[in-house]
Amino acid sequence: MNILITGVSKGIGLALTDEALEKGHHVFGVARHPEESHELMQLQKKNNRLTIIKLDLKEENAAEKLIKALANCSHIDILINNAGIYEKDSTKEAFIKSFEVNAYIPFMVTETLVPKLKPAHSPKVIHITSLMGSIEDNSSGGSVAYRASKTALNMIHKCLSLEHNWLSCMAIHPGWVQTSMGGKEAPTTPKQSVSGIWKEIERLTLAESGCFKDFQGNMLPW
Ligand SMILES: NC(=O)c1ccc[n+]([C@@H]2O[C@H](COP(=O)([O-])OP(=O)(O)OC[C@H]3O[C@@H](n4cnc5c(N)ncnc54)[C@H](OP(=O)(O)O)[C@@H]3O)[C@@H](O)[C@H]2O)c1
Repeated sequence: MNILITGVSKGIGLALTDEALEKGHHVFGVARHPEESHELMQLQKKNNRLTIIKLDLKEENAAEKLIKALANCSHIDILINNAGIYEKDSTKEAFIKSFEVNAYIPFMVTETLVPKLKPAHSPKVIHITSLMGSIEDNSSGGSVAYRASKTALNMIHKCLSLEHNWLSCMAIHPGWVQTSMGGKEAPTTPKQSVSGIWKEIERLTLAESGCFKDFQGNMLPW
């Protein structure tokens, strides 16, 4: 299958790429500075099924560049919107950055790839969201810009699943994961997280489209 994953330089995106390649898929991985990621370069050396798309998704013409990079690709079976940022502050800049990367970009990438997803046999769009975006689960507050941007992503995910009723869409919380974002104290390794995420991706059907789950398959409150 052809899989497009955003944010593959490190963390969960890199681990998702590694596992997809192990499963025999072709991965189109979007990274801003791929040459700076030793692990990604190693994966590419070992594998001719990894096509790296060097792109900052914040660029003005990111959609056009994405389409151009996929000119020779007939279709995308699975899109994984993984790239994200965590802003601790609640300044105007932090809100704008968070909403651009965590909410608008997944929407823009999905809409851009609709013509590539349509020809796939059972196309899927996966949003790597966060439990921190759940309003019902929020008992501590804090990290307002990040939380609100992931709540917005959850709404975007729901809208996309209704608008494109031929697409199987899932918003998935990866757990608290040991990455540069999650920190060293996180209880879950990237490998454990993505093994659960991949299980849920493979199980996802149209009947479940629009769901909000965690990497262990539990349904989450909005
Ligand atoms: N780690 C956790 O505990 C946790 C928990 C809940 C949800 N999540 C979510 O899981 C996803 C992955 O997080 P992570 O922990 O793996 O974080 P990470 O290690 O910080 O990786 C984030 C990835 O996103 C990429 N990225 C950011 N902005 C980008 C842009 N404008 N264009 C292209 N790529 C961009 C980064 O690229 P650069 O290397 O160029 O910066 C990097 O590859 C995020 O959506 C995050 O919100 C993580």
